[in-house]
Amino acid sequence: MAAPTLRKPDSLAALRAEAAHCRACPLWKNATQTVFGEGPPHAPLMLVGEQPGDKEDLAGKPFVGPAGMMLDRVLAEAGIARGKIYVTNAVKHFKFVPRGKIRLHQKPSTPEIRACRPWYERERATVRPALVVAMGATAAQSVFGRITPIGKNRGRLIALADSDDEAKALVTVHPSYLLRLPDAASKAREYAAFVRDLELAASFLRKLKAA
Ligand code: URA
Repeated sequence: MAAPTLRKPDSLAALRAEAAHCRACPLWKNATQTVFGEGPPHAPLMLVGEQPGDKEDLAGKPFVGPAGMMLDRVLAEAGIARGKIYVTNAVKHFKFVPRGKIRLHQKPSTPEIRACRPWYERERATVRPALVVAMGATAAQSVFGRITPIGKNRGRLIALADSDDEAKALVTVHPSYLLRLPDAASKAREYAAFVRDLELAASFLRKLKAA
C-alpha cells in the first residue's frame, strides 16, 4: 500500500491552472491540453476514469465523448446526479497514436500514471469526497497506488489507507469496457453489474447524509 500522501488542500481553480502547465511526463507534447477534473468543490463523490479520450482532449472536459454518454446513462439509472459529483481522470493528458485521420487511444503506462498521481491526490485533498469510485484498472492503480485487479475488488467499499478522513473507495469497470463488449447478452449483464456498483455508491452516500 502506498505511503500517506494527502497534503494541504489547494483551491481547485489554482490546481487547474497549475496542471495546465504540467510537464511531469511526455504526454503533454501531443495532447491538445490538460483535461482537469470537474464538479462541485466539495462533492461527496469523486469518480476517477483512465484518461481523456479524443473528444475530451478537444473539449478540455472529462467524459464528454462516447464513454461519457455511457457513464451518464449508468449514473442516471443509479440515481446519481452528475452535476453533484466530481469527475476526473487518473491521467490528465490524452495518450494516442495517429492512424490516418483518427487518434487511437493508448493505455497509459505505470510511469505516466505515477507522474500524474499528484494531481489526483491534490484534487482529493481539496474536494475531500467521502467516496472515490475508481473506474477501470488505470483508475484503480492510481487511487490505491498499486495494481488493483477489478474483478477481485469490485462491488465493495474499501477503506483508503492514505486517508485521514475515513474516505472509502469503490472499484468498478470503466464505461468504455461496456462499449467494447461484442454481444448483447454480455453487454446487458455488465451494464447491470456497473449500475449495481454505482447503486452501492449512491446508497453509501444516502446513509452518510442521513447519519
Ligand atoms: N475515458 C476516460 O477514462 N476518461 C474520459 O474523460 C473519457 C474517456
